Amino acid sequence: MLDTPENTEINIQKKSKYSLGDILLCPRCSSRIKEYADIIECLSCHSAYPIVDNIVIFNLVESEIEQSYANSYEKLANDDLQHSLVANRETYHKPFLKFLGNLKGKKILDIGSSNALYLKQIECDFRACVDIALPFLKDIPNGAVDLKICGDAEKVKFVNGFFDVVIAADVLEHLLNPRALLDNIYLALNKNGKLFTHVPWREDLSVYKDSPYEYTHLRSFNDYNFTMLTSNFEIIRNRYSYPKLDIPIFHVISEKLPVKLSRLVKKLYFFGKVAKYEYKIRERWINNLPENEEFLLRFYPPLFRTSELRIKRDPRSFNKLVFKIIGTLLEKFMKSKAIQ
Ligand SMILES: C[S@@+](CC[C@H](N)C(=O)[O-])C[C@H]1O[C@@H](n2cnc3c(N)ncnc32)[C@H](O)[C@@H]1O
Ligand SMILES: [Zn+2]
Repeated sequence: MLDTPENTEINIQKKSKYSLGDILLCPRCSSRIKEYADIIECLSCHSAYPIVDNIVIFNLVESEIEQSYANSYEKLANDDLQHSLVANRETYHKPFLKFLGNLKGKKILDIGSSNALYLKQIECDFRACVDIALPFLKDIPNGAVDLKICGDAEKVKFVNGFFDVVIAADVLEHLLNPRALLDNIYLALNKNGKLFTHVPWREDLSVYKDSPYEYTHLRSFNDYNFTMLTSNFEIIRNRYSYPKLDIPIFHVISEKLPVKLSRLVKKLYFFGKVAKYEYKIRERWINNLPENEEFLLRFYPPLFRTSELRIKRDPRSFNKLVFKIIGTLLEKFMKSKAIQ
């Protein structure tokens, strides 16, 4: 039990109209919390969580694997802040911000925010962020974000329906248990709320085999596993981006041609200095992305998918009926094929 006199209760988010009790729940028992000067306390289990430099710290590590995961991200954050581990972050963030659209007046939560590079650019009513790595949160300039939470996003709990928008960009592939995060997001969003995700698409995970960080991308996404993971939501919009320009355009085209033509195209690639010039052109395409992105995606597979999702609603009764009829016919057809 925390011995905190009533009169020390203050709202640490001085500039915000919300107190932490309006936003956060106890991550251990999901009960309401009360905010004091440099601590929050659960009103039910009386767990106490410190607030350091305006960052709420939820240290919720329960196992060795969780500890080594947290350590790995602390190291990664320190390294990244010294020397950026991702080239051209702007190239990813610009189209992502465009995809988010107008969020004026919205309350936004960014999960796995790093140092809030895109979050701080979003015009909205309230910005909150969660990251497991404290160095990233400390790097966010004062006043850029209304609420900073350090902790494992799988465990941080929010007052039901507080947020209008949740962003999970380049984080779902990292988590030990992404389903737990999706459950938290489902509760944190109000019923008209939106979830924006950005995930690597059909990624080859073998490239992380020699990574100096133990936990990097733990899974690769495709339409099937993404749909399963987000089964409480429905997808409203998708945008495939960042063509994977890893092989010569001649070989991409030749795959789609009849074999004789394909042989010719491949021979032409090795004619004179064609291969050298092709490489130069492709290098320019890569450097100038997202310029020509739409055109290049006709040939090359995307590296990422951005999606807008909303909480699943009950379909209208007419739509339900149409779906039932189509479903029954399909089921009968599939059955006849399956038992042949
Ligand atoms: C690849 S970065 C993405 C940063 C940012 N969202 C972007 O798109 O540029 C992944 C971030 O997720 C954070 N992260 C990883 N696992 C997490 C977890 N379980 N809970 C909260 N944050 C996590 C990492 O510390 C890192 O800042
Ligand atoms: Zn509690």
